[in-house]
Amino acid sequence: MIYLDNAATTMKKPDCVVEAVARALTTMGNASRGAHSGSLAASRVDLACRQKAARLFGCWRPDHVCFASNSTEALNIALMGILNEGDHAISTDLEHNSVLRPLYRLQAERGLQVDFVPADRLGMIDYDDFERLIKPNTRLIVANHASNVTGNLVDVARIGKIAHEHDLIFVVDASQTAGCVPIDMQAMGIDVLCFTGHKGLYGPQGTGGLCVGKGVEIRPWKVGGTGVQSYSKAQPADYPTRLEAGTLNSHGLAGLSAAFDFVEDIGVTAISHHERILMQRFYEGVHNVDGVKVYGDITLEDGRERTAIVSINIRDYDSGAVSDALAEGYGIATRPGAHCAPRMHQALGTVDQGVVRFSFSYFNTAAEVDAAIAAVREIAG
Ligand SMILES: Cc1ncc(COP(=O)(O)O)c(C=O)c1O
Repeated sequence: MIYLDNAATTMKKPDCVVEAVARALTTMGNASRGAHSGSLAASRVDLACRQKAARLFGCWRPDHVCFASNSTEALNIALMGILNEGDHAISTDLEHNSVLRPLYRLQAERGLQVDFVPADRLGMIDYDDFERLIKPNTRLIVANHASNVTGNLVDVARIGKIAHEHDLIFVVDASQTAGCVPIDMQAMGIDVLCFTGHKGLYGPQGTGGLCVGKGVEIRPWKVGGTGVQSYSKAQPADYPTRLEAGTLNSHGLAGLSAAFDFVEDIGVTAISHHERILMQRFYEGVHNVDGVKVYGDITLEDGRERTAIVSINIRDYDSGAVSDALAEGYGIATRPGAHCAPRMHQALGTVDQGVVRFSFSYFNTAAEVDAAIAAVREIAG
C-alpha cells in the first residue's frame, strides 16, 4: 500500500518507537504506584517523555505537560476546565470537531457565547477579526495551528499577541503541526498547547496531552486515583496529577518518548523539509491536470511554511468514490469526505463533494508520490 493518509495518523513508525513499546509491555509496572523496579521504570519513562515534550514545545516546566489519550481529550480538558457560565470564546472556521463539539456543548450546557473568525473561499482568515470579536466577557481564544483540510498554517504568534494584549487565555490545537512545524509556546504566546502523539510525532495512538503555561488554571475534567494524596477527597491540585486521574498509558508513552527522540535527532526542520518536497512534487504533478481542483492557499514560491497536505477534487466526482478508486485500483490510501472539519468545508464550498486529501510523511518517497500523480491523471483522464 502507498500510504498517503498521514494527516489522519502516521502508519509507518520509526523502529525505535516499535521497540520501545514492545520493551515497555514486558518491563513496566504502574507509574507512581509503588517503589519497585517495574513502577519506577514506568515513572522514569513518563518523566523523560514530559521533559522531551516540554523541550520540543517550549513549555515552561515539564510537570506542566499533562498526558491525555489524544488531542481531542486534551482539548476537552482545556475547554471544559477553563470556560465558565456566561463566558465568551472566540474560535475559527478552521477548527476540527475536537474543538467545535466541546464549544457547542458548552454553549448548550453552560450558556457559553462563541464567535468564529470566518474563513474565505481559500480557507484563510483575517487576523483583524479577532480584535473585532473581543467583548468584555471574552475569556479565551482557541485556534488550530494548521488546517487538516488545506495544510495552511495559522499565525498563532500573531493571535497570541492579540490574546495577551486583551488578557485572554490562548489555546492552540497543534494536532497537525506537533513534530513537523517548530513550536515555542513561550515565544508564540500560547497558554495551552494540545497535541496528539500519533500523527507528525510518529508516536503510538492513545498518546498526546496538553502543555499548560504559567498561571493557567484548569479544573480537572476527570477525577480519580493518582497514587498520591489518597486520603484527600479532592483531586490533587498540582500539575500534572491535577489532570491525570487513572493509570497512564505508559506503554504508549514509552513509544512517544522514543518518538520525541526520533523527531529531535532528525530535527523538525529537516522533517518538514522532506515532507514539503514530496507535497510540492505532488502539487506540481496534479494542479494543471484538466479537471483537477486544488483547495486552500497553495502559494509555494515564497517559501511560506505549510504542512504536507494537498486536497483535491477531480471534476464533480464524489471524493469518496475517488478515494475508493485510488485504494482499490492503485493501492493508494487517502482520506475523502469532511475530515471532521464542517465549518472549513462550508467555507471551501465542498460540503456535498468533500475533498480527497493526500498527506505526506517523512517515510514517503518520491516514487510513491509519482505513482499517486499517475493515478490522479488516469482517473481525471
Ligand atoms: C486539526 C485537528 N485537530 C484535532 C484532531 C483530533 O486528533 P485526535 O483524533 O488524535 O484526538 C485532528 C485529527 O485529525 C486534527 O487534524
